[in-house]
Amino acid sequence: MDTKISTSIMCADFLRLGEAVKELESSGADYLHFDIMDGHFVPNFTMGPDILKSIRGETDIPFDTHLMVYEPERYIETFIQAGSDLVVIHVEACRHLHRTINLIKENGARAGVAINPATPLSALDYLLDEVYMVLVMAVDPGFAGQSMIPSAIGKIRQLKQKITQSGLDVKIQVDGNVSFQNAPRMVLAGADILVAGSSSVFRKDMTISEGMKALRRCILGMDV
Ligand code: DX5
Ligand code: ZN
Repeated sequence: MDTKISTSIMCADFLRLGEAVKELESSGADYLHFDIMDGHFVPNFTMGPDILKSIRGETDIPFDTHLMVYEPERYIETFIQAGSDLVVIHVEACRHLHRTINLIKENGARAGVAINPATPLSALDYLLDEVYMVLVMAVDPGFAGQSMIPSAIGKIRQLKQKITQSGLDVKIQVDGNVSFQNAPRMVLAGADILVAGSSSVFRKDMTISEGMKALRRCILGMDV
């Protein structure tokens, strides 16, 4: 099993962002996860494309950009120009999903779609064969440090079945409360990419590299 870790930059210490990126690099982060919020689709703000641009100059780690914004089609080109390798849009926030997914691809990035905890998997029925990845939210998006909504585990399992039955190779990413306790259950259910935030890699009681090691250890140590 080759589970990837995408580290949530919004959970880093913004005063020491450069150092955090270096530590993420040396501890083998597979992606940097950028949570972009518009204060409308979600009740919070985080960062804009300039932060991505600054970090892009410092590292080659692929950028995974999670757009929690309404009408994401307005910002696709901006975030790809800022360095995104993968752009994820919410099915709840976008009226013309195929058009927007195509816009992401035409601009040279991989496309993903995210679903909120209350959104049924049927929302993906006509999209699955168009995307590189589905992001399953394990919390309502907007804030770090929330608790996993328990139905997320069954949802990951059902999505994995759906993908396998369709004969597709779509990755499953899970975001929200990916803790040392929850991560093994998420991976067992079918998660390919875990978003590591304040529950694992960016903790007050550990350094980033200690958090990365602990997360990898708990995934590798599970009985599969
Ligand atoms: C939630 C964000 C997540 C979050 C994950 O809206 O998309 O990336 O920060 O981190 P924790 O572990 O704090 O839930
Ligand atoms: Zn996210």
